[in-house]
Amino acid sequence: MLLLANNEAWPGFETSVQMLRDGAVSLDAMVAGIGMVEKEVKVRSVGYGGWPNMLGEMEFDAGVMDGNTREVGSVGAVPRTLAVAALAHQVMKRLPHVMLTGEGAQRFASEIGFAEDKVLFEDSRRVWGERLQQELTPQQLAKFPNIDLAPLSRTITDPERVRDTTVFLSADARRGIHAATSTSGWAWKYPGRLGDSPIPGAGFYADSRYGAAACTHTGEMTMRCATARTVVLAMKLGRSLSDAVALAVEELAELDTGFLAGVVIHAVDAEQNHEVVNFRCEGEVRYWLWKDSMPAPVLRTAKRVTRK
Ligand code: GLY
Repeated sequence: MLLLANNEAWPGFETSVQMLRDGAVSLDAMVAGIGMVEKEVKVRSVGYGGWPNMLGEMEFDAGVMDGNTREVGSVGAVPRTLAVAALAHQVMKRLPHVMLTGEGAQRFASEIGFAEDKVLFEDSRRVWGERLQQELTPQQLAKFPNIDLAPLSRTITDPERVRDTTVFLSADARRGIHAATSTSGWAWKYPGRLGDSPIPGAGFYADSRYGAAACTHTGEMTMRCATARTVVLAMKLGRSLSDAVALAVEELAELDTGFLAGVVIHAVDAEQNHEVVNFRCEGEVRYWLWKDSMPAPVLRTAKRVTRK
């Protein structure tokens, strides 16, 4: 058995490990761990600790995929619920749909008994307010929010403030291979912007016959390349795990227009090998790994890959 997650998973990783040790269903274990990340204010890219959109409103994205059935649940731009990985899991379990967004997702959350949460952390609100004061003219500030926001996506939107997302992958010979994600997305994003974390095939994908992948950082690139699906499909077509990830990196590297920055790909195969590569993200990128042969989880450094 193996559990893999990115650095931001620290508040919940051990809970997921313990639940897996105790025999929990893999997605239940990962969703419970992510729930702890979503509540942790020190994680500045997921849940309560995340950053708001341009209007100062929180919008959360999440996705889950059951690699045994290839069923998916996802939610995007959820305004008032922190536990969005759990909400995505319920979309998968209860609805004939794959994805709900915005007020529809919020309505579903209320119908099934999720609380409406306090979602905007005071420090995030303060930094957002300061940013507006710096970037907007006095005329724009006087009219805000009744101004065109699109030009601001070139000035105040700040993907670098968000280093991450949280992604969890599990692989077990008996329970299968599964994926779960959650994020608050880019700081000061345009309202309604979805990242890759709720998009099956881009931010996550799992197929128990071959493996799974999940991405962090620049969703605007992985959505264009269907990165998570590329990794799993390449394994289906016979590539090894590392060759499959290399193909996905090659596709990201071919992009030469639009918003380009770093991507981290986390991937596992059906033999419970894993690969985590850092393509163009600055600094050291770490991830959590636990196998049932290990007494405790370990924090490792992602392989840096360079392309033109
Ligand atoms: N990968 C997270 C995002 O683009 O929002």
